[in-house]
Amino acid sequence: MKFFADTADTDAIRELAATGLLDGVTTNPSLIKKAGRDIMDVTREICSIVDGPVSAEVVATDHDEMMREAEVLRKLGDNIAIKVPLTIDGLKTCKKLTGDGTMVNVTLCFSANQALLAAKAGASFISPFVGRHDDVGYPGIELIADIRLIYDNYDFDTEILVASVRNPIHIHDSAKLGADVMTAPPEVIWRMFDHPLTDKGLAAFLKDWEATGQTIG
Ligand code: E4P
Repeated sequence: MKFFADTADTDAIRELAATGLLDGVTTNPSLIKKAGRDIMDVTREICSIVDGPVSAEVVATDHDEMMREAEVLRKLGDNIAIKVPLTIDGLKTCKKLTGDGTMVNVTLCFSANQALLAAKAGASFISPFVGRHDDVGYPGIELIADIRLIYDNYDFDTEILVASVRNPIHIHDSAKLGADVMTAPPEVIWRMFDHPLTDKGLAAFLKDWEATGQTIG
């Protein structure tokens, strides 16, 4: 499973990239607002930090303008994936861009049928939102299971990129279901390292080691 950071905070991306475990980054207009930086500057910088796909989202709602924005955004790096919303114009744009060899991430997916449409439009990634489903009382993870089943039925190449990840349980469940990618806020990825028994076990080993009076090397 690939790990993407869902943020436009370049310090946080650098910190995660230093682990060697970061495969890409996703941004959206809200994350750009949160970063408080110019979209062109911050996206260019992110592309220079990670080698893997960096999703940059168009904000136009009609196909022609989406294509124009995509032209601008894809010049920011060789690893740009253009993010388009799951609308008719978004999927028209997806079909055109992937036909030209550009990576496309179709976002704001809330149903398996929408994911089917995105795969037929040649999407590189489909982003089903798990957390926002949970927020309205529907178990979002069920969407991942449905999309996995449908994509496998027809051997679609579109990668399932689990989005709106709010906690390590979302990641655990997505991995069990065979999702290809997950994107999570850096703080959620860091929480995956934590286990109280690891801390307790390490403290005990270090205490016993100190008592031996030995050193290694
Ligand atoms: C990712 O591509 C999405 O934009 C993001 O995961 C949405 O997450 P949120 O529901 O926490 O805003």
